[in-house]
Amino acid sequence: MPTAVRNELRFILNSEVVHLQNVSPTLTLLDYLRLQRQLTGTKEGCAEGDCGACTVLVGRIGPKGLVYESVNACIRFVGSLDACHVVTIEHLADLNGKLHPVQQAMVDFHGSQCGFCTPGIVMSLYGLWLETPKADAERIEKTLQGNLCRCTGYEAILNAAEAVGNTDNSGDKLVVTHEAITSKLAELKDGNRVEISSPEGDTIVPASADDLAAVLEAHPNATVVAGSTDVGLWVTKHMRDISPAVFIGNLVDLQTITEDETGITIGAGVTYTDAFEAISRSIPTMGGLWDRIGGEQVRNMGTVGGNIANGSPIGDTPPPFIALGASVTLQKGSATRTIDLEDFFIDYGKQDRAPGEFVKAVHIPKLPEGDKFAVYKISKRRDEDISAVCAAFRVRLDADGNVESARFAFGGMAATPKRATAVEQTLTGNPWNEAEIERAMAVFDQDFTPLTDWRASAEYRMLTTKNLLKRFFLETQGQAVQVVRHANALAEV
Ligand code: FES
Ligand code: FES
Repeated sequence: MPTAVRNELRFILNSEVVHLQNVSPTLTLLDYLRLQRQLTGTKEGCAEGDCGACTVLVGRIGPKGLVYESVNACIRFVGSLDACHVVTIEHLADLNGKLHPVQQAMVDFHGSQCGFCTPGIVMSLYGLWLETPKADAERIEKTLQGNLCRCTGYEAILNAAEAVGNTDNSGDKLVVTHEAITSKLAELKDGNRVEISSPEGDTIVPASADDLAAVLEAHPNATVVAGSTDVGLWVTKHMRDISPAVFIGNLVDLQTITEDETGITIGAGVTYTDAFEAISRSIPTMGGLWDRIGGEQVRNMGTVGGNIANGSPIGDTPPPFIALGASVTLQKGSATRTIDLEDFFIDYGKQDRAPGEFVKAVHIPKLPEGDKFAVYKISKRRDEDISAVCAAFRVRLDADGNVESARFAFGGMAATPKRATAVEQTLTGNPWNEAEIERAMAVFDQDFTPLTDWRASAEYRMLTTKNLLKRFFLETQGQAVQVVRHANALAEV
């Protein structure tokens, strides 16, 4: 239990320590900046985490110390900022009349026309420059995945990003003040729970994972907000009431990653960015999928646990995790239980989670030596899009080349992430050859009756799923699969 309850949020905004007593649980950082602080350099484009016009940096003390990351202010709630350092484009202005090196590069390389996207792009590049001053082209592109520009064209922006890599960052304000800000944030993070009541609802920031358990026992129907990459849209697009909102992004005891001989255990509060290294080291084929989850700002905010807890049928992590045989640990009060991840998803919008219970961690077993595994994401855009179909295949062959076991899991094909058990059974015990694959492809009709929606038609989903099995088979035979891209084809990995 926390030693005390505090009734205010405390964070640093640029160079100022802010104390907020009266804050709505649905107040976004973007509205706070623009409407309450008149910091209008941060722009609103889409209000759903897609365009990057609202990009700011948020510094937080996590397992690696104080780290600054780009985030989408439009879907980030102020309630999630306790003991954080928010850095906006205005922070770059105070340089005795000179432009910041990132801004100067954008000018020198003609990286801006109408300028609406520019503050967001500058903040994304500023975050990159702090982290990796001399970034290569691939890293730069990854950084800018979440920033859209509709008039300049990206080449000029990419050139500016490359050029700024020639500038030393050791004199930058955030580098120089790193230790001082770290101490200040540590002081603000006093180990107390935050509870704020406002006319619009209640905000709670637990002090620890056990305190979260206590909060949820008292408020079993509260909205748990981790990265807010989904809940943010409930508010900005659907005007939903999320009170009482329980913000868990600051809980370092939910941000652990442990690796042992059985596999990886990822705390529910680990962001996609923080999980990337461990995931792609343990299961290299997952790296390509990981890089296609949202843009960098979304990956900096969104959590692995959130992707599971929200139960979406089109979340990107459940299909590969289910194919790998993952389990999920839940906590209610002081009791924990662990179940197979596939059993967590009961029906559309319904998970095996009792009121007051929360997702604590997910365990992903190691891929046994010799098992073949692949995951494919099909979406309309390559970057920053939601899957029409996400398909994960894992197969083990015996010494005779017959299928010993198969686990195939899919997103976008049913009301929940779901295995194709009839297809798996059709293949098990039979030779892993083209004739058997063709026979199994027809069996998908027994497993799935997909929907038609704006992402894809039912026919497209079914045909794609069948063909992905064929592609997986060919790739296991060492055949490079030639992907023919039509102008209107969906993107894939
Ligand atoms: Fe578009 Fe925030 S306004 S990502
Ligand atoms: Fe106009 Fe990028 S400069 S949107």
